[in-house]
Amino acid sequence: MPVNKKIYFGTNTKMYKTIDDTVEFVAELQKLTDDIDKDKVEIFVIPSFTAIKDARNIVKCKFLKIGAQNMNWEEQGQYTGEISPLMLREVGTDIVMIGHSERRHILGETDVEENKKVLCSLEHGFITLLCIGETMEQKQYGVSDEILRLQLKIGLYGVKHEDSERIWIAYEPVWAIGENGVPATKEYAAKMHDVIKKTLSGIFGDVHGRKIPVLYGGSVNMQNASELSKVRDIDGLFIGRSAWNAKDFNKIIRSVL
Ligand code: PGA
Repeated sequence: MPVNKKIYFGTNTKMYKTIDDTVEFVAELQKLTDDIDKDKVEIFVIPSFTAIKDARNIVKCKFLKIGAQNMNWEEQGQYTGEISPLMLREVGTDIVMIGHSERRHILGETDVEENKKVLCSLEHGFITLLCIGETMEQKQYGVSDEILRLQLKIGLYGVKHEDSERIWIAYEPVWAIGENGVPATKEYAAKMHDVIKKTLSGIFGDVHGRKIPVLYGGSVNMQNASELSKVRDIDGLFIGRSAWNAKDFNKIIRSVL
């Protein structure tokens, strides 16, 4: 990433941390990263719904942002088990993550649904983190570029140019995520991030499109973080397992800075 640009570091704690675990994690992370220049870096944590309020309450400044792992596209209704934008607003959510690979591939969400969520999230003023990525099968068929374009074009359909300022993208190849994942090489990530940046410019025009941060995620760790972050079109890192301990997350952040 270019030196003068903001760098993004986030973690999604999936279904792993209780309220107490999250509070302890966020408090420690806040302390460890206290001296970092807030104009240059964005740090965010996306815990379970039940922990958002307590996490938000212990974060003293807006520097460390707190996100939600999913959201329904309606304010209220007959959607048992779902969470509404009003409920997320009420507990102080800054970011809504939409379309994480596990929601798409385990819970069967479609691009059309992600689009409805994106529009609703923007309408309610949240920073909206849309996750995209191809499966191994799609990669083997040589259609990764097409898949990413499709996920972006449908996922962001109807988003106003001025709202693009609150869009963040996470590129997470499905085959790179989790315990059996293999991190993308920096060459492969560079190629895919270039496709994403070009597609975003195509959708929003160069001025707005180029400003949208695109983070890389999928088996980011202490060994590959610095190298991946040097790729021109990678604006930040979205990390799972390797960031779930605050000391390790802080170490990764420092290794990049
Ligand atoms: P991982 O998870 O870093 O553990 O591969 C990434 C993610 O699911 O966002």
